[in-house]
Amino acid sequence: MEVPFGRLKNRKNCYLLPSQTPLMQTGLPEKAAEVLQNNWQHGFTIPCEGLYPFQWNWDSGFIALGWGHLDVERAKMEIRSLLLGQWQNGFLPHIVFHNEAETYFPGPDVWDVGRSRFAPEKKTSGITQPPVLGFVLEFLYDRHGDALMDFAAEVFPALYAWHAYLYTHRDLHNEGLVYICHNWEAGTDNTPVWDAIWEGMDSPSYDLNRRDTQHVDAANRPSNREYEHYIHLVELFKSWDYEDAKIGANSPFLIQDPLFNALLMRSNEGLIRLGKLLGREAEVARLEQWQERSLKHFHKKLYSPLNKAYVYYDLRNERKLEAVSSSSFIPLFAGIPSPAIAREMVAHHFDRGRFSGSRDAYYLCASFDPTSEAFDPGRYWRGPVWVNLNWLLYHGLLRYGFGRLAEKVRKDTLELLEQYGFYEYFDPRRQLDSGKTHAYGGNNFSWSAALYLDLIQHPES
Ligand code: GLC
Repeated sequence: MEVPFGRLKNRKNCYLLPSQTPLMQTGLPEKAAEVLQNNWQHGFTIPCEGLYPFQWNWDSGFIALGWGHLDVERAKMEIRSLLLGQWQNGFLPHIVFHNEAETYFPGPDVWDVGRSRFAPEKKTSGITQPPVLGFVLEFLYDRHGDALMDFAAEVFPALYAWHAYLYTHRDLHNEGLVYICHNWEAGTDNTPVWDAIWEGMDSPSYDLNRRDTQHVDAANRPSNREYEHYIHLVELFKSWDYEDAKIGANSPFLIQDPLFNALLMRSNEGLIRLGKLLGREAEVARLEQWQERSLKHFHKKLYSPLNKAYVYYDLRNERKLEAVSSSSFIPLFAGIPSPAIAREMVAHHFDRGRFSGSRDAYYLCASFDPTSEAFDPGRYWRGPVWVNLNWLLYHGLLRYGFGRLAEKVRKDTLELLEQYGFYEYFDPRRQLDSGKTHAYGGNNFSWSAALYLDLIQHPES
């Protein structure tokens, strides 16, 4: 495959930024670079102008991969900036408010994290997001080699502290499976999986000052009632001063999520490999113990023979939540299933299975099971395709040798981005009524652009 962008590399093997190239705006790679450049804010990248005007945790990891192709110094700055928001107990929040903006709710005053004795000087949110930095660092190392080792040495202690926090404070039964206590921690905000949790919650009504629906169509966003549950959880955590022990004992939302835990394990792998190169023996030994414990329990507890995929465990109500989302397949990325289970999962859900549909009705990969009644192809995490989940699935499939299917995921992703632009999420149905668009949510969305730059570097054929 010809990668036109490849002509625009500098001596450090990074692509030139649009402002440095005479071919400005000539092609999609240049356009992707421009999206990142426009969203860059003195040291970090916002996910999307207006809609998400601060620094988000897992977005920054994916964005750093994109910057790695343009200017590796920016990839490093992105990660350093995120770590400025790290709490004293190792916790890494889901938003860092470096800047001021009125276009997002809930802002720093609602979070009020000063109630925690561990809060840093920076203003942050009080919940986290999937831990991607460990594997992001490894991917950057694989692309930049020894030139990245000083940076790896610089951030390794912070990333180790982050994993230590998760295994120390969020693994209630010592089974190597950590919990999330808020739907925003999953990254898949309004997946139908949570519907069963909301049903059991009697959240009060709040005077919501939502800003998201001023930027994009409310029909493609979570409902107001869902937002009341989200805010209610925040109010509970505040009333407990963000103390982990109280959250673990009382939060009505307490889930072992296959996506969050798989990414933690894949990040463990990255840190173990880099830690060995850096001579951090004590930390490597601890990481290996955690990894072993996680591996021992993950499959047993989260695999659903019924659904032939990984599902969610509701710790508060001690039950499996039998629903399949794109998160259900990400354990492939961390090497968790046996080859036989991986084959079972792939046969059941792809290639005319549930997620492909008969006659290849859907782009891969819908964020929620298209055969479910709750599937909603236009509403955020209730059906649309998301580029970051596709990137993880692509690498997961490659890891197990499903090269043809991986290539299909890559091609579907590129097709959506090439035809409709760097949107936040996409309708998975191939055939839409005329006049309908596939592209939803924010435009010029950073991780869509960043991962586009990464995916065009992986021609399989
Ligand atoms: C939405 C997504 C979340 C992402 C954030 C910023 O809340 O659901 O995963 O991190 O936007 O892009």
